[in-house]
Amino acid sequence: MTDLEGTPLEGVRIDVWSDNEDGFYDVQQPGVQPRHNNRGVFVTGPDGRYWFKGIKPVSYPIPDDGPVGQMLGHLGRHPFRPAHMHFIVSREGFETVVTHTFVAGDDYLQSDAVFGVKQSLIAPFEPVVGGDTKWRSTFDFVLNRGEAQ
Ligand SMILES: [Fe+2]
Repeated sequence: MTDLEGTPLEGVRIDVWSDNEDGFYDVQQPGVQPRHNNRGVFVTGPDGRYWFKGIKPVSYPIPDDGPVGQMLGHLGRHPFRPAHMHFIVSREGFETVVTHTFVAGDDYLQSDAVFGVKQSLIAPFEPVVGGDTKWRSTFDFVLNRGEAQ
């Protein structure tokens, strides 16, 4: 985590959430998933770094049993979103970033049902051999000085 000049930023709050291995968020499955499943809040250290353990998100279909599904059908589009993680990144004195990062190599990167993919938001997921960690993903956020929104 740095500012635009590349200076590491300590104390940046990272609020992150993602779906489970079946493509559902905790709020979609009360009583099935534990409350706050696959959610976390982290803070960068003095070197601007952050890390956490989680799962590799999976692609999922947006609800398509109503008008949105009818519209997608008329357009000949599928309802899937590429696998992603949601982020709110904030620190006093900087513009808050609300975004998501996408899993590199996902089948739906070129056809996101809600057109959210940008090349700069694609995060690599490198396989890890040995241990209990299967993937490692790095993503560097850069914050712009200004007021939080
Ligand atoms: Fe999502």
